Amino acid sequence: MNIRLSTGKLIPVEMHKIRIVQRTTLPTVRRRLEAIGEAGYNTFLLRTRDVFLDMLTDSGTNAMSDNQLAAMMVSDDAYAGSESFYKLADAVKDVLGFNYTIPVHQGRAAEHLLAKVFVKPGDVVLMNYHFTTTKAHMELAGATVLEIFTNEALNTESTSPFRGNLDLAKLTDAIETYGPEKIPFVRMEATTNLIGGQPFSLENLRAVKKITAQFKIPLVFDGSLISENAYFIKQREKKYADESISQIIREMMSVVDLFYLSGRKSTSVRGGLMATNEKKYYDQILAWLPVYEGFATYGGMSTKEVEAMAVGLREMTDVNVAGASPDLIQYFVERLLENEVPVVTPPGGLACHIDAKRFLPHLPQSEYPAGALAAAIYLASGVRSMERGTISMDRDAQGNEVYADLELARLAVPRRVYTMSHIQYVVDRLTWLRQHSELIGGLRFIEEPKVLRFFFGRLEPLANWGSKLAKAFEADFGTDL
Ligand code: F0G
Repeated sequence: MNIRLSTGKLIPVEMHKIRIVQRTTLPTVRRRLEAIGEAGYNTFLLRTRDVFLDMLTDSGTNAMSDNQLAAMMVSDDAYAGSESFYKLADAVKDVLGFNYTIPVHQGRAAEHLLAKVFVKPGDVVLMNYHFTTTKAHMELAGATVLEIFTNEALNTESTSPFRGNLDLAKLTDAIETYGPEKIPFVRMEATTNLIGGQPFSLENLRAVKKITAQFKIPLVFDGSLISENAYFIKQREKKYADESISQIIREMMSVVDLFYLSGRKSTSVRGGLMATNEKKYYDQILAWLPVYEGFATYGGMSTKEVEAMAVGLREMTDVNVAGASPDLIQYFVERLLENEVPVVTPPGGLACHIDAKRFLPHLPQSEYPAGALAAAIYLASGVRSMERGTISMDRDAQGNEVYADLELARLAVPRRVYTMSHIQYVVDRLTWLRQHSELIGGLRFIEEPKVLRFFFGRLEPLANWGSKLAKAFEADFGTDL
């Protein structure tokens, strides 16, 4: 919760007590230089023992509550008919309002089933913005993904409160161009991950529904960060300022035909689910569930996680839980702005995003500025961030690079894991790095997978810039840090 101090300054005060902790260590810059080399300058390939603060993702890395941990102890490991599942289904009904719940092992499993059931070769899937795994599944099913975001979406220095909105005029145009029969569904992603965790408004969601309903196109909602999107609606959409997170979520859900989420984010577990009120959709998806995931009452998840997700779904409707990560991110972004580090605005959900195009204006996109910045952040701080730029795009069928709209280094803020002093440390090292940005060079692939290359690809720094940066760091901070 943001609390105003007597000085007038706002600080994000944690509305929880930390009662279980995990040790972390800060390797020296010498070790960091070796480690990033061993990882092929790809932060995904670093080992935890070499990482001080793990800001790679907020996925599956959140602190669980005491009630979630307690629920795990009473899970029912029955293969079929598990009581844990019925608790989850009850929570889905109460929080989201859906009668049918399908558990899956994580978000991308839901996307796989979505593609399997709804998508045919030649289809065009419309969305406010893609996510990497979503796009991969739609394309593997033979469809094209068309993003219909507003002009403001790609402005990384925006003051627009809802950069995740879908452009309504472009939606109508796309439906007229391709025909509703070619569009299996329209997908709205809560706090669009790849453009900086930016939310959409309830007004926009309702307007999208109005159009899709007219053409009988199902509206699919990716709710991986549903509580954060609801929190932003409460903060930024005047009409909903006095509504609870629960009420806002129920209002969003009232227009949704098919819902899915990665349970690794807002609900702070490791799992996923799909939910709907359409029996027809439920039956179609359920037919494939035992083939790819597991029986209908566990769907590939541990029943411990099923229990914890039931609790997590309810807890995320607490405004202090929904706002825990956004408030810390806001603090993070504001401190970086004060220090002239180019950061994506307005602050979003899930992470603080550094704009690598502005941070490293001397690097062309062909040298992967976001990947270079993520590696440099690790070198300067031991903090692990994630590349969200051209490396996260795969080449096209002809082998050409597909340049990303944005080149971002994403510093995720897992829910309830890090404190203000951690954030202050990262802000300091990013500020130092910004002052030495001319030392950061580009990257080149030495091993490049065809699909989702960002996960396992290995790269090398052009002109050995990693060593030069490490030397400059040692000159300023000594050899102990
Ligand atoms: N949808 C969104 C909006 C996501 O952010 C993610 C995952 C998924 C779907 C896929 O879910 O990982 O459970 O299979 N985002 C993670 C991230 C990986 O780091 O942002 P999953």
